[in-house]
Amino acid sequence: MRLFVAINFSPEIKAALLRAQARLRSLCAGGNFSRPENLHLTLAFIGETERLSDAREAVAECGGPFELSLSGLGRFGELYWCGIAENPRLTALARELRDALTRRGFKLEAREFSPHITIARRVRADGSVDFDVPPASMTVGRISLMSSERINGKLTYTEVYARRL
Ligand code: 2AM
Repeated sequence: MRLFVAINFSPEIKAALLRAQARLRSLCAGGNFSRPENLHLTLAFIGETERLSDAREAVAECGGPFELSLSGLGRFGELYWCGIAENPRLTALARELRDALTRRGFKLEAREFSPHITIARRVRADGSVDFDVPPASMTVGRISLMSSERINGKLTYTEVYARRL
């Protein structure tokens, strides 16, 4: 199974992300927009593994609740994302997870944690699209171990374990 650890959002954050997505849709010629139920923030990408219980153990030992706020639009080429306001607690949690996973032998990518919420991929636009993302905040009180698979051609994420912070 393909696993990652993520923050799933409150209705308020979801609503702001959906508004940003609608705005992007209206300003570009097309793209592959994340399904609303798939919007999330990845804390650690584990990848293909059968070691679900080791991954659960790593997630179970991390965390403490904190606040998170949206901030700004960004892109990696044709992939558009909403950003997160500077957040040392979030960065610390991502590091804590990475360490807990690495200690259990998971090989994570070396690239630095770059918190982003992908709202659309393969966006076709004339130049770079830009607009303000609506403000929204939430208390993060839970992190989720998610599996990722294609079901009937649809990218589908399923929570396989949740840790209350
Ligand atoms: P992305 O939105 O930038 O693609 C599930 O694939 C989640 O894990 C997505 O949030 C994805 O980020 C993230 N992720 C991080 N590294 C990845 C990788 N090497 N391959 C696929 N997804 C990755």
